[in-house]
Amino acid sequence: MASHNHKRVHIATFGCQMNAYDSKRMAGMLAEMGYAQVQRPDAADLIVLNTCSVRRLAEEKVYSYVGELKRLKREKPWLIIGVGGCVAQQEGDKLLKRLPHLDFVFGPDAVTSLPELVTEAIQGKRQALTKLGPPAGPGRIIVPAEPGLRAMVTVMTGCDNFCSYCVVPYVRGRERSRPAGEILDEVAALVAAGVREVTLLGQNVNSYHDPDSGLDFAGLLGRVNDVEGLWRIRFTTSHPKDLGQGLIEAMAGLNKVMEQMHLPAQSGSNRMLKAMNRGYTRERYLEQVRRLREKVPQVALGSDIIVGFPGETAEDFDQSLSLLREVRYDFLYSFKYSDRPFTKASRIEGKLEEETKSSRLVELQALQREIGLQEHQAQAGRVEELLVEGPAKHGRGLMSGRSRAGRVVNFSGGPELAGSLVMVRITLGRENSLAGELLPATGEYKA
Ligand code: SAH
Ligand code: SF4
Ligand code: F3S
Repeated sequence: MASHNHKRVHIATFGCQMNAYDSKRMAGMLAEMGYAQVQRPDAADLIVLNTCSVRRLAEEKVYSYVGELKRLKREKPWLIIGVGGCVAQQEGDKLLKRLPHLDFVFGPDAVTSLPELVTEAIQGKRQALTKLGPPAGPGRIIVPAEPGLRAMVTVMTGCDNFCSYCVVPYVRGRERSRPAGEILDEVAALVAAGVREVTLLGQNVNSYHDPDSGLDFAGLLGRVNDVEGLWRIRFTTSHPKDLGQGLIEAMAGLNKVMEQMHLPAQSGSNRMLKAMNRGYTRERYLEQVRRLREKVPQVALGSDIIVGFPGETAEDFDQSLSLLREVRYDFLYSFKYSDRPFTKASRIEGKLEEETKSSRLVELQALQREIGLQEHQAQAGRVEELLVEGPAKHGRGLMSGRSRAGRVVNFSGGPELAGSLVMVRITLGRENSLAGELLPATGEYKA
C-alpha cells in the first residue's frame, strides 16, 4: 500500500517514568525501521499507546483514547494501532476482543518485540504478547537520536512488595535487576550523546542487586559516579523499608549524586501502613528521615500519600496531615485510593465515599501547598548550582535550570548558558519554582 511509504508513528505515553523510558526505547527501535515520530495521532500511520493501570482513572483513559481512534482507522484503513504497557499486561487478549480496531497488544516485558509486532500487524496478524519474565534489562542499548541533557536509565524492573492497594507487581512481574555492566554501558552511551544527568529508575531501587556480582544500589551509584563526562545522578523510587545506611552514606559521599529523594510514605497512620502492607511504621519512617537529614542536611524530600484507603478514619487521615507537618516535604504526589484488580485492598471492607476521599485530598493538598511554599521561601539567600536547561517557560529573557535538590530556578541570563552548570543566588521562593540571580562564572563547574 502506498501509504506505508509514509512511516509516521505517534506514541502516547501514560503513567510513570518507567513507561516514559520504555517509550523512548520504542521510538528508537521504530526509528531504525524508518518511522519518524509525529506529535498528532491523526498524522500517524502507526499509533502506539504505552498505558498505565495504577489507578482506575488511568485505565479508563486508555479505553476512551482507543475508542476515539476508531474513526481515524475508518478514514485510514492502513493505520496500525498497538497497546503496550500495564493495561496491556493486565487485559491481554481481552483488549483485542473488546476493541476490534486494535492490531496488537504487548506487555512491558515485550517492548523489544515491537518491531516484529508492527511488521506482522501490517501483514494482517492480530496478537497479544504478554509473557512476563526475564531478562530484566532491555538487553540492548538504544540511545535516542537527540536525548537532550537529562535521561532515564532503568536499573530494575518489576516489584515484589505487594503493597495491598497496588497493581504494579501483577502487571510488571517479579523484581529483576539489570546487570551493572549493562547499566554502565548505557550511561556511557548516553553521555557520549550529550546527556549530563541520569535518573536511575526502579519501583524499589533500594533493593537493587547486580545478578552477577551482587553489587548493591549504593555500590552501583559509586560506579555510575565514576562515569566520565556525567555530571549529575538522581534516582527513584526509594522504599522506606529498604533505605539502608549504605545508601545514605553514598548520597552524602558521592559528588554527582544529587540531594533529592523520593521516599513515599503513603500514610502517616500505623493502622493504615499495616493494612497497606508497607513494612514500616510511622516512627520508623521518621527515623529514616532523621538519619538521612543528619548526613545530607540539604536533601529535598518527596512523598506519595494515598487518602481514603479502605477503613481510613478521620484520625488516620489526621496522622497523614501531621506527618506532612513533621517531615515538611518539598514535593508531594497525592491520590485518592482506587480499587485495582488482583489486589488485596480491593477485597477488604470499609470502602470510603467518593466525597470523603475528595475532601481529604483537597485538605492534604492545601496543607502541602503551604508547606512547599514556606520551604521554597526559606531557600532565599542560598547559593545554588544549576544545570541550565533552556529558556524559562514564563518570563522573557529568563533562563531556567534545576538545582541539585531538583528545584526549578529561573534567572536572567543568555541562551548560551543552556547545557552548562552555573551558580545562582536564590532571591525568591514561589510555589512551584524559585527565582535566582546569576553569579560570576568561576569556570570550575564546567566539565
Ligand atoms: N514503587 C513506588 C510507587 C509506584 S505507583 C513506591 O512504592 O512508592 C505510584 C504511586 O501511586 C504510589 O506511590 C501510590 O501512592 C499510588 N498508588 C498506587 N496504587 C494506588 C491505588 N490503588 N490507589 C491510589 N493510589 C495508588
Ligand atoms: Fe506498588 Fe508497593 Fe511495589 Fe511501589 S513498592 S510498586 S507501591 S507494590
Ligand atoms: Fe502505571 Fe505501570 Fe508505572 S501501572 S505507574 S505505568 S509501572
